[in-house]
Amino acid sequence: MINTVILPVAGLGTRFLPATKSVPKELLPVVDKPLLQYAVEEAWRAGMTHVVLVNSPKKQGLETHLQAADPELVADLTAKGKQDLLDALLGTVPEGLTVSVVMQPQALGLGHAVGLGGTAVPSDATGVAVMLVDDFIDAPDAGCLSDMVALHDDTGAWSLAVEEVPMTQVHRYGVVSLNDSGRIQAMVEKPFAEDAPSNLAVVGRYLLPAAIISALADVKPGAGGEIQLTDGIAALLADYDIRAHRFSGVRYDCGSKLGYAQANMALALRDPAMAQPLRAWLKEFL
Ligand code: G1P
Repeated sequence: MINTVILPVAGLGTRFLPATKSVPKELLPVVDKPLLQYAVEEAWRAGMTHVVLVNSPKKQGLETHLQAADPELVADLTAKGKQDLLDALLGTVPEGLTVSVVMQPQALGLGHAVGLGGTAVPSDATGVAVMLVDDFIDAPDAGCLSDMVALHDDTGAWSLAVEEVPMTQVHRYGVVSLNDSGRIQAMVEKPFAEDAPSNLAVVGRYLLPAAIISALADVKPGAGGEIQLTDGIAALLADYDIRAHRFSGVRYDCGSKLGYAQANMALALRDPAMAQPLRAWLKEFL
């Protein structure tokens, strides 16, 4: 059974200061929906009915966003007949979704966060999904994680989402090398270009065997002095068929201002109410 997704969200989001002084970066909107909500919706479409937020005590707003709507606001919108807004508000969380919260008081690394999240994964789970909320993937159909679940259902293989990046960028990512049948052979966190096994960079979608949780307990601090998810996955490669999934669609690095601006522009240009006037304005403006 795979129905749990771990969302590590305790990061400080300093690249977006001062916006993130009091607003968690995962609540920054792409057009009108917070990044967190896009991730939860993608996870839900992939069959994940249980979200584990690995959160910081300072980012309560993330939990609030996944709780029931404020009854006063619901009553107000109802009285005013604002059905569209009411639907948006009540549709924030898919009905039937369970949310668990695990605190990560200290930022000791992504692997540390996922290991903590593992305490909330049901003991009969065969696997677990992990999503990095600031890797926003604008994909056709049900989305990237859904395709990874389908791959697992069809072949039994686990997977990580990857994309090719220029060699000058590999130091920002986990990087994989593949054997002839497409199985991941090696994985290195944030290598120098000269040490990188390829230019295939992991982006924030992982579908992993449940054994990742116990593997992470043995991982020592690695790149940047942090406990790395990459090192936990590397420890599983000999025993598990873990593949690189080249996803459909476009990934926007919403942990960077440029990627975040691009995601907003891409979605706004598709919004029926904004597309035409925005396009006209852009033409003029540029
Ligand atoms: C994390 C992972 C890295 C992955 C990246 C994708 O790095 O550690 O392996 O390639 O996310 O966005 P971070 O961006 O948190 O430094």
